[in-house]
Amino acid sequence: MARIIAGIGSSHVPAIGAALDNNRTEEPYWKRVFSGFEKSQAWMRETRPDVAIVVYNDHASAFSVEIIPTFALGCAAEFPPADEGWGPRPVPVVKGHPALASHIAQSVILDEFDLTICNKMEVDHGMTVPMNLLFGKIAKDGHWPCPVIPLAVNVVMYPPPTGHRCYMLGKAIKKAVESYPDDLRVVIFGTGGLSHQISGPRAGLINSKWDKAFLDNLSKDPQKLVKIPHVDYMREAGAEGIEMVMWLIMRGALGDNVREVYRFYTVPASNTAVGHIILEPSGAARKAAAHKPAGKAKRSGGKFKRAAARAKVQRVRS
Ligand SMILES: [Fe+2]
Repeated sequence: MARIIAGIGSSHVPAIGAALDNNRTEEPYWKRVFSGFEKSQAWMRETRPDVAIVVYNDHASAFSVEIIPTFALGCAAEFPPADEGWGPRPVPVVKGHPALASHIAQSVILDEFDLTICNKMEVDHGMTVPMNLLFGKIAKDGHWPCPVIPLAVNVVMYPPPTGHRCYMLGKAIKKAVESYPDDLRVVIFGTGGLSHQISGPRAGLINSKWDKAFLDNLSKDPQKLVKIPHVDYMREAGAEGIEMVMWLIMRGALGDNVREVYRFYTVPASNTAVGHIILEPSGAARKAAAHKPAGKAKRSGGKFKRAAARAKVQRVRS
């Protein structure tokens, strides 16, 4: 049986990808950002998921204004990096997991969520930047550490889905994953945000108070977050702050109770607030989710170090 073992929230600022691709990570401005993900990368190396589901939004790369699906699930065997105007990012082609993706599509659609099934799709910085932040820099001819299932959400043209619908979709994804027969340990990313506005009179808007309350409530009171209307995101977090609804898909997929493993927040990166959080299901759900298939344990020498990694990881705020 497959399990969702953790949720990861991360901003997907394109300038972070550019800094990485152009070897600027040691510059003080960017080191402040990248250093906040060092513990996360250690956590990910120890966690070693079998599959990652990455919830992100396409930025007119795979979809133009002619067709904008509300929810689009990548069921292909691979997803090449998109050309976003200056050539594709120098990152590996993302390998998918068509069997699990198709299973999720069937389960979720029969649960009355109308996903668009994408059997061919390029992926942009919205997906690859958070993957870099958690998996590290990987050469173009290298391999991402695990297969990835992209889930693209419309947050670029009104009306985007509500936070409540995103949260409920996350619950449906949890149910779908847990009905998949293979022992797979799955992590789910929610990406985008945090507060930012890239154009208009309020360009450059950042609202740290709002962002930090959102991060707090992800673990403490997600029901409060699912009630936030679009207009509140617009007013408080800027026009592009609506991307934060995608984090609620991740949160819904974790079950009712979670424990916060790690958090990082800094401003700005480019003109955006950078937020990051790692959550794990708490209590009995966490124990069940942490089950490591015997085959995987054998391949790693039988050393399952998640508990140790958890002890090392500490909460950091800035
Ligand atoms: Fe974005």
